[in-house]
Amino acid sequence: MRIIAIANQKGGCGKTTTSINFSACLNFLQKHVLVIDLDPQGHTTCGLGVKTQKGMYTLYDLLSPLQQATPLFSQVICALQPGFDLMPSNSSLNALEEEFGFMPNYHLKLRELLSRMAEQHGKYDFVVLDCPPNLGILTWNALNAADEVMIPVEPSFFSLHGLAKISETIQIVNRSRETPLMVHALLTLFNSETNFAQEVYEEVRVHFQSKLFRTIIHEHVLLREAAAAGRSIAQHAPQSQAFQDYLNLAVEYLEREWNRKLPERELGWEKVVKNHFGPRPVSDGILFQFLSKTASSVEIAGDFNHWVPEMLVQRGQDGLWQKVVTVSSKTFRYKFIVDGEWQVDPNQPLQKENAYGGVDSYVELV
Ligand SMILES: Nc1ncnc2c1ncn2[C@@H]1O[C@H](COP(=O)(O)OP(=O)(O)OP(=O)(O)O)[C@@H](O)[C@H]1O
Ligand SMILES: [Mg+2]
Repeated sequence: MRIIAIANQKGGCGKTTTSINFSACLNFLQKHVLVIDLDPQGHTTCGLGVKTQKGMYTLYDLLSPLQQATPLFSQVICALQPGFDLMPSNSSLNALEEEFGFMPNYHLKLRELLSRMAEQHGKYDFVVLDCPPNLGILTWNALNAADEVMIPVEPSFFSLHGLAKISETIQIVNRSRETPLMVHALLTLFNSETNFAQEVYEEVRVHFQSKLFRTIIHEHVLLREAAAAGRSIAQHAPQSQAFQDYLNLAVEYLEREWNRKLPERELGWEKVVKNHFGPRPVSDGILFQFLSKTASSVEIAGDFNHWVPEMLVQRGQDGLWQKVVTVSSKTFRYKFIVDGEWQVDPNQPLQKENAYGGVDSYVELV
């Protein structure tokens, strides 16, 4: 379970819009995602069409030390789409500032909550935390709970001014962490027609270097409309450039994840012998790969997903398609579906006949 805080004390730089739509696009790429609204403004909650009526449990009820009976995770978490959940919030979260004030280790409460959730409710592939526009107790909790932080930056003079502050905060948080936060920066609300935006882009690139995503989120009226309609852009306008921007971000993010997990890619995957493209275990599942420069979609189906096809993600322009799948058994059958055509894996020598007179690719993990 990877936990990503979307943080920047600067207001209105696209934290909430990114939390909602980055999460929705990870889910579009078949990831199991929970988005947590850590902002008492509750914008992620209403931006995803959830109204916190009286009597409804929210994140506050899970975190508050004054709560007599803590609700179950299932009583708080709202299912939005298959594999896409929300932990909602509203202004009650403001009270935590005071309630946590008297507690030891108040900055670790969210971290403790998320490990409890993983045990009692189950793990997600990704948990995305939408932080409020300040560096108060809630953002501290997020930075201590997270593995990674994504800093959205919109092209304005004030946002450049604030970058030193958030970078300094991350450094302070890192002093008491075992592993430092992985930092990403993202340009949002970008209007390529202005020279100023280009200048800010250059400055942000110098500041963050390779931490800055190549993907840029442009200004799109549709993103405002989607939020007002209580939907992610994946639901509201899946054909739009706004959706494409956030999908590109999700794909680039997953590429970074894979580069972290698969250090041999640094050698250049073209040099890796053909056999290495067969399925193999990585840190959080089995990596499947398919090589095709011409395919426009590659999916995988097998025993592990009840033969319901799931998409692979194309990495760069190289024609390398990849997906990491959670597989619980030591043996399994699978097939790729390339542009709608079912076929065995050309890089997996083992095959087994199936009940329909054909063959499936077959894996036996040792
Ligand atoms: N790429 C975009 N194109 C057009 N409008 C956008 C874009 N990103 C965000 N917005 C709009 O800009 C406003 C601020 O965005 P958002 O709420 O995501 O920022 P925020 O950083 O979460 O704000 P806050 O600091 O108040 O939490 C919202 O009205 C949102 O709809
Ligand atoms: Mg916000």
